[in-house]
Amino acid sequence: MTLKRFRALKGSAPFATVTVFDTTSARIADRAGLPLLLVGDSLGNTILGMDSTLTVTMDHMVHHTAAAARGVEQALLVADLPFLSYQISEEEALRNAGRLIQEGHADAVKLEGGRDRVSTIDRMVRNGIPVMGHIGLTPQSVKQMGYTVQGRQPERAEELRQDALTLQEAGVFSIVLEACPPDLAKDITDSLDIPTVGIGAGAGCDGQILVFNDLMGLSDTNSLPKFVKPYLQAAELMEAALKQYAEEVGTGSFPGPEHTY
Ligand code: KIV
Repeated sequence: MTLKRFRALKGSAPFATVTVFDTTSARIADRAGLPLLLVGDSLGNTILGMDSTLTVTMDHMVHHTAAAARGVEQALLVADLPFLSYQISEEEALRNAGRLIQEGHADAVKLEGGRDRVSTIDRMVRNGIPVMGHIGLTPQSVKQMGYTVQGRQPERAEELRQDALTLQEAGVFSIVLEACPPDLAKDITDSLDIPTVGIGAGAGCDGQILVFNDLMGLSDTNSLPKFVKPYLQAAELMEAALKQYAEEVGTGSFPGPEHTY
Protein backbone atom coordinates (compact mmCIF):
# COMPACT_ATOMS: atom_id res chain seq x y z
CA MET A 1 0.00 0.00 0.00
CA THR A 2 1.35 3.38 -0.96
CA LEU A 3 0.19 6.77 0.27
CA LYS A 4 -1.19 7.48 -3.17
CA ARG A 5 -3.26 4.30 -3.22
CA PHE A 6 -4.41 4.92 0.34
CA ARG A 7 -5.56 8.45 -0.54
CA ALA A 8 -7.44 6.98 -3.51
CA LEU A 9 -9.62 5.02 -1.07
CA LYS A 10 -11.45 8.31 -0.44
CA GLY A 11 -15.02 7.92 -1.58
CA SER A 12 -14.66 4.20 -2.44
CA ALA A 13 -16.29 1.48 -0.33
CA PRO A 14 -15.60 2.01 3.40
CA PHE A 15 -12.36 0.31 4.46
CA ALA A 16 -11.27 -1.25 7.75
CA THR A 17 -8.01 -0.57 9.58
CA VAL A 18 -6.71 -1.68 12.96
CA THR A 19 -4.30 -0.71 15.72
CA VAL A 20 -1.61 -3.37 16.19
CA PHE A 21 1.22 -3.64 18.67
CA ASP A 22 3.64 -6.36 17.69
CA THR A 23 4.76 -8.74 14.94
CA THR A 24 1.98 -11.27 15.56
CA SER A 25 -0.95 -8.84 15.47
CA ALA A 26 0.58 -6.95 12.53
CA ARG A 27 1.13 -10.14 10.54
CA ILE A 28 -2.46 -11.31 11.09
CA ALA A 29 -3.92 -7.90 10.14
CA ASP A 30 -1.59 -7.60 7.15
CA ARG A 31 -2.60 -11.06 5.88
CA ALA A 32 -6.26 -10.05 6.27
CA GLY A 33 -5.51 -7.39 3.64
CA LEU A 34 -6.21 -4.27 5.71
CA PRO A 35 -4.73 -1.25 3.90
CA LEU A 36 -3.42 0.61 6.97
CA LEU A 37 -2.13 -0.58 10.32
CA LEU A 38 -1.51 1.81 13.19
CA VAL A 39 0.88 1.21 16.05
CA GLY A 40 -1.18 3.32 18.42
CA ASP A 41 -0.17 4.74 21.75
CA SER A 42 -3.20 2.81 23.06
CA LEU A 43 -0.25 0.44 23.53
CA GLY A 44 -0.14 1.98 27.04
CA ASN A 45 -3.62 0.92 28.14
CA THR A 46 -3.90 -2.20 26.00
CA ILE A 47 -0.55 -3.94 26.30
CA LEU A 48 1.54 -2.22 28.95
CA GLY A 49 -1.11 -2.10 31.72
CA MET A 50 -1.03 1.69 32.04
CA ASP A 51 -4.02 3.89 33.02
CA SER A 52 -3.80 6.12 29.97
CA THR A 53 -1.59 6.91 26.98
CA LEU A 54 0.21 9.69 28.88
CA THR A 55 3.03 7.49 30.16
CA VAL A 56 3.89 5.95 26.79
CA THR A 57 7.39 7.01 25.69
CA MET A 58 9.21 7.31 22.39
CA ASP A 59 11.26 4.23 23.30
CA HIS A 60 8.07 2.19 23.82
CA MET A 61 6.73 3.36 20.45
CA VAL A 62 9.96 2.70 18.55
CA HIS A 63 10.28 -0.78 20.09
CA HIS A 64 6.69 -1.81 19.24
CA THR A 65 6.67 -0.15 15.82
CA ALA A 66 9.81 -2.04 14.81
CA ALA A 67 8.18 -5.27 16.03
CA ALA A 68 5.01 -4.55 14.02
CA ALA A 69 7.03 -3.63 10.93
CA ARG A 70 8.57 -7.11 10.96
CA GLY A 71 5.07 -8.54 10.42
CA VAL A 72 3.98 -6.25 7.59
CA GLU A 73 4.33 -7.02 3.90
CA GLN A 74 1.63 -4.97 2.23
CA ALA A 75 -0.09 -2.47 4.55
CA LEU A 76 0.83 1.14 5.18
CA LEU A 77 2.32 1.22 8.69
CA VAL A 78 1.60 4.34 10.74
CA ALA A 79 3.03 4.96 14.22
CA ASP A 80 1.73 7.28 16.91
CA LEU A 81 3.88 10.06 18.28
CA PRO A 82 3.35 9.77 22.05
CA PHE A 83 2.51 12.53 24.55
CA LEU A 84 5.11 15.35 24.66
CA SER A 85 7.15 13.93 21.80
CA TYR A 86 5.91 16.62 19.37
CA GLN A 87 4.60 19.46 21.54
CA ILE A 88 7.84 20.90 22.98
CA SER A 89 9.52 22.11 19.81
CA GLU A 90 9.37 21.52 16.07
CA GLU A 91 12.96 20.25 16.15
CA GLU A 92 12.13 17.61 18.75
CA ALA A 93 8.96 16.69 16.88
CA LEU A 94 10.88 16.20 13.65
CA ARG A 95 13.59 14.17 15.37
CA ASN A 96 11.02 11.92 17.07
CA ALA A 97 8.99 11.44 13.90
CA GLY A 98 12.27 10.55 12.19
CA ARG A 99 12.97 7.89 14.85
CA LEU A 100 9.65 6.19 14.13
CA ILE A 101 10.61 6.06 10.45
CA GLN A 102 14.32 5.21 10.80
CA GLU A 103 14.32 2.91 13.84
CA GLY A 104 10.67 1.78 13.82
CA HIS A 105 10.41 1.37 10.04
CA ALA A 106 7.01 3.10 9.96
CA ASP A 107 5.77 4.59 6.70
CA ALA A 108 4.09 7.54 8.40
CA VAL A 109 3.39 9.07 11.82
CA LYS A 110 0.19 10.19 13.55
CA LEU A 111 -0.22 13.02 16.01
CA GLU A 112 -3.17 14.46 17.91
CA GLY A 113 -4.56 17.98 17.65
CA GLY A 114 -5.88 20.58 15.26
CA ARG A 115 -4.82 24.07 14.30
CA ASP A 116 -2.06 24.23 16.97
CA ARG A 117 -0.17 21.53 15.10
CA VAL A 118 0.02 23.19 11.69
CA SER A 119 3.65 24.34 11.74
CA THR A 120 4.83 21.02 13.23
CA ILE A 121 3.02 19.05 10.54
CA ASP A 122 4.28 21.38 7.82
CA ARG A 123 7.85 20.87 9.03
CA MET A 124 7.49 17.08 8.94
CA VAL A 125 5.77 16.97 5.56
CA ARG A 126 8.39 19.30 4.02
CA ASN A 127 11.04 16.89 5.29
CA GLY A 128 9.46 13.84 3.70
CA ILE A 129 7.51 12.41 6.63
CA PRO A 130 3.86 11.59 5.88
CA VAL A 131 1.56 12.63 8.73
CA MET A 132 -1.89 11.45 9.77
CA GLY A 133 -4.03 13.78 11.93
CA HIS A 134 -6.26 12.85 14.87
CA ILE A 135 -9.08 15.08 16.15
CA GLY A 136 -12.25 14.75 18.20
CA LEU A 137 -11.54 12.86 21.39
CA THR A 138 -7.77 12.99 21.69
CA PRO A 139 -6.71 10.64 24.51
CA GLN A 140 -3.45 12.53 25.14
CA SER A 141 -5.67 15.43 26.36
CA VAL A 142 -7.63 13.21 28.74
CA LYS A 143 -6.77 15.44 31.71
CA GLN A 144 -8.51 18.32 29.94
CA MET A 145 -11.35 16.68 28.04
CA GLY A 146 -11.85 13.31 29.74
CA TYR A 147 -13.01 10.41 27.57
CA THR A 148 -16.03 12.40 26.39
CA VAL A 149 -17.72 12.59 23.01
CA GLN A 150 -16.55 15.76 21.23
CA GLY A 151 -18.56 18.08 18.98
CA ARG A 152 -22.03 17.80 20.49
CA GLN A 153 -22.07 21.58 21.13
CA PRO A 154 -22.26 23.72 17.95
CA GLU A 155 -19.11 25.75 18.83
CA ARG A 156 -17.03 22.62 19.38
CA ALA A 157 -18.46 21.05 16.21
CA GLU A 158 -17.38 24.14 14.26
CA GLU A 159 -13.90 23.99 15.82
CA LEU A 160 -13.56 20.37 14.68
CA ARG A 161 -14.74 21.23 11.14
CA GLN A 162 -12.12 24.01 10.98
CA ASP A 163 -9.43 21.80 12.49
CA ALA A 164 -10.04 19.15 9.82
CA LEU A 165 -9.72 21.65 6.98
CA THR A 166 -6.64 23.22 8.54
CA LEU A 167 -4.96 19.84 8.96
CA GLN A 168 -5.71 18.98 5.33
CA GLU A 169 -4.15 22.27 4.24
CA ALA A 170 -1.11 21.56 6.41
CA GLY A 171 -0.59 18.37 4.39
CA VAL A 172 -1.85 15.40 6.40
CA PHE A 173 -2.76 12.42 4.20
CA SER A 174 -5.65 11.27 6.40
CA ILE A 175 -7.42 12.17 9.64
CA VAL A 176 -8.69 9.99 12.49
CA LEU A 177 -12.01 11.23 13.88
CA GLU A 178 -12.53 9.84 17.36
CA ALA A 179 -15.76 9.87 19.37
CA CYS A 180 -17.82 12.53 17.66
CA PRO A 181 -21.45 12.56 16.53
CA PRO A 182 -21.99 10.64 13.28
CA ASP A 183 -23.54 13.55 11.37
CA LEU A 184 -20.58 15.78 12.24
CA ALA A 185 -18.09 13.07 11.19
CA LYS A 186 -19.98 12.66 7.90
CA ASP A 187 -19.98 16.45 7.31
CA ILE A 188 -16.24 16.61 7.96
CA THR A 189 -15.63 13.59 5.72
CA ASP A 190 -17.62 15.16 2.89
CA SER A 191 -15.74 18.45 3.24
CA LEU A 192 -12.29 16.85 2.78
CA ASP A 193 -10.33 15.46 -0.18
CA ILE A 194 -8.40 13.05 2.08
CA PRO A 195 -9.78 9.89 3.75
CA THR A 196 -11.14 10.06 7.29
CA VAL A 197 -10.85 7.07 9.58
CA GLY A 198 -13.47 6.92 12.31
CA ILE A 199 -13.55 5.35 15.73
CA GLY A 200 -16.79 5.94 17.60
CA ALA A 201 -17.73 8.42 14.86
CA GLY A 202 -20.41 6.49 12.97
CA ALA A 203 -20.54 4.94 9.53
CA GLY A 204 -20.08 8.14 7.51
CA CYS A 205 -16.27 8.13 7.62
CA ASP A 206 -14.21 6.77 4.72
CA GLY A 207 -12.76 4.04 6.93
CA GLN A 208 -12.97 2.62 10.44
CA ILE A 209 -10.32 1.71 13.00
CA LEU A 210 -10.54 -0.56 16.04
CA VAL A 211 -7.88 -1.72 18.47
CA PHE A 212 -6.74 -5.30 17.71
CA ASN A 213 -7.19 -6.56 21.28
CA ASP A 214 -10.69 -5.02 21.58
CA LEU A 215 -11.76 -6.45 18.23
CA MET A 216 -10.47 -9.92 19.13
CA GLY A 217 -12.10 -10.01 22.56
CA LEU A 218 -8.78 -9.87 24.41
CA SER A 219 -9.52 -6.69 26.37
CA ASP A 220 -11.31 -6.46 29.69
CA THR A 221 -14.98 -6.48 28.69
CA ASN A 222 -15.95 -4.27 31.69
CA SER A 223 -13.99 -1.32 30.32
CA LEU A 224 -14.88 -1.49 26.61
CA PRO A 225 -16.22 1.73 25.06
CA LYS A 226 -19.61 1.60 23.30
CA PHE A 227 -18.01 1.81 19.84
CA VAL A 228 -16.16 -1.51 20.18
CA LYS A 229 -17.55 -4.65 18.58
CA PRO A 230 -15.61 -7.77 19.56
CA TYR A 231 -15.54 -10.09 16.55
CA LEU A 232 -14.07 -12.99 18.52
CA GLN A 233 -14.02 -14.11 22.17
CA ALA A 234 -10.28 -14.77 22.05
CA ALA A 235 -9.67 -14.41 25.81
CA GLU A 236 -12.25 -17.12 26.56
CA LEU A 237 -10.87 -19.39 23.84
CA MET A 238 -7.32 -18.89 25.13
CA GLU A 239 -8.33 -19.55 28.73
CA ALA A 240 -10.07 -22.76 27.67
CA ALA A 241 -6.98 -23.80 25.69
CA LEU A 242 -4.72 -23.15 28.68
CA LYS A 243 -6.98 -25.14 30.99
CA GLN A 244 -7.00 -28.05 28.56
CA TYR A 245 -3.20 -27.85 28.27
CA ALA A 246 -2.83 -27.83 32.08
CA GLU A 247 -5.18 -30.80 32.37
CA GLU A 248 -3.35 -32.79 29.72
CA VAL A 249 0.00 -32.08 31.38
CA GLY A 250 -1.52 -33.05 34.73
CA THR A 251 -2.89 -36.36 33.43
CA GLY A 252 0.27 -37.15 31.47
CA SER A 253 -1.43 -37.15 28.05
CA PHE A 254 0.76 -34.26 26.90
CA PRO A 255 3.47 -34.49 25.67
CA GLY A 256 2.64 -37.65 23.73
CA PRO A 257 5.06 -39.67 21.58
CA GLU A 258 4.31 -37.41 18.57
CA HIS A 259 5.61 -34.37 20.52
CA THR A 260 8.76 -36.10 21.72
CA TYR A 261 12.18 -36.37 20.03
O1 KIV B 1 -3.77 4.70 19.82
C1 KIV B 1 -4.68 4.28 19.09
O2 KIV B 1 -5.00 3.08 19.03
C2 KIV B 1 -5.40 5.27 18.28
C3 KIV B 1 -6.62 4.80 17.56
C4 KIV B 1 -7.72 4.64 18.52
C5 KIV B 1 -6.98 5.71 16.45
O3 KIV B 1 -5.01 6.40 18.23
